[in-house]
Amino acid sequence: MKNGYVKKARTKAQVWIKENLSDYLDVVSIGLPEYDDRYNIWRVPLNLENGKDRLVGEIKYDKSIEKMVGRTKTKIITERIEKYRNEKPKKAKQKSGLFYPAPIPNKVILGDAIKVLEDFPPDTAQLMITSPPYFNAKPEYSEYVDYQEYLDFLRKAIARVHNVLSDGRFLVMNVSPVLIRRTSRKTSSKRIPIPFDVHKVIESVGFEFMDDIIWVKPEGAGWNLGRGRRFRADRQPLQYKPVPVTEHVLVYRKKTDKLIDWNIRRHYDQKLVKRSKIRGKYEVTNVWHIHPAFSKHHPAVFPRELVRRIIRYYSFKDDLVLDPFAGSGTVGHVAYEMGRRFLLIDNDPKYFKLMKRALNERIKNKIRIDYEIHETFKGV
Ligand SMILES: C[S@@+](CC[C@H](N)C(=O)[O-])C[C@H]1O[C@@H](n2cnc3c(N)ncnc32)[C@H](O)[C@@H]1O
Repeated sequence: MKNGYVKKARTKAQVWIKENLSDYLDVVSIGLPEYDDRYNIWRVPLNLENGKDRLVGEIKYDKSIEKMVGRTKTKIITERIEKYRNEKPKKAKQKSGLFYPAPIPNKVILGDAIKVLEDFPPDTAQLMITSPPYFNAKPEYSEYVDYQEYLDFLRKAIARVHNVLSDGRFLVMNVSPVLIRRTSRKTSSKRIPIPFDVHKVIESVGFEFMDDIIWVKPEGAGWNLGRGRRFRADRQPLQYKPVPVTEHVLVYRKKTDKLIDWNIRRHYDQKLVKRSKIRGKYEVTNVWHIHPAFSKHHPAVFPRELVRRIIRYYSFKDDLVLDPFAGSGTVGHVAYEMGRRFLLIDNDPKYFKLMKRALNERIKNKIRIDYEIHETFKGV
């Protein structure tokens, strides 16, 4: 069905080009027609064939591709063609062989993520999943002088992750706005929009935004925050404050000019690629309903199901999954179950011991795990 539409869009666009860009038939080509479900239209890109495939315009059609929508600005398109037709084509890229990861065994390290990651070579990790330490605006509870210092800390950590992550691979971060409760009747509560600020940080370090997955917790999971109580009683407009029941799971790809297809085709072991295929049911939308998890050993553990889905969609078997703020080590457990390697870092000796105990119990001696204390933490 969709194929039929794509063909129809192409054919119509071909006719339009012949009628309107007759002087440029040899340099203009039609890109892949795509349905834009926001406006219910088809968009057909027009590319300039100068070795760079530069987009010079688009033709829009209604959803049944019967008629054109809006005006296709022939003058602007021809101006762009004239401007760019003589630009130098990119040098043909050398085919850079196959992708091989660094052969790092499973590791759990006690240390500061920023320092620890300095010791690892490029291509160490093929996926990063983490939920970073929590920002608490109250100085007496916070490790950070202020919010800017917190963001600077994250920037450094993400920059280190960038160094060790393979080209074109994914960084997935679970962050959410923080609620700062009011301290007295004269002050108001605040929400700090952490995901939106962290987004800027992640992009600036060299990642491309891919998706925002909304993790929805069942209603009631956030009620204990007491948010919205005032509104519930008074029902005044402007006082409305919804109880947050979602978290953000931000998905990025390490910037590269290689297509995702490259990551798949140039993988060193096509058998692993085949075995990693996502078969059967999968999440079709970016709204994931998952129960939160609780642990008596750690205050902020990932639900295993959340980690399971991320690993399934964003890694191949035998990839190394990195969690620089590993806490109780949920990422390591799930990575092991799914045939991936792991590198877990936490700077709290209590959690390092917890990971060691729990992983030893679960995994016994079935795989090699190195437990290391970073040199800056010796004696802690
Ligand atoms: C939100 S928790 C992660 C919990 C984890 N997702 C789990 O499932 O258990 C963040 C962790 O980061 C650790 N942490 C804080 N600052 C760190 C740093 N500079 N380097 C490494 N770990 C750090 C904290 O000790 C805490 O366990």
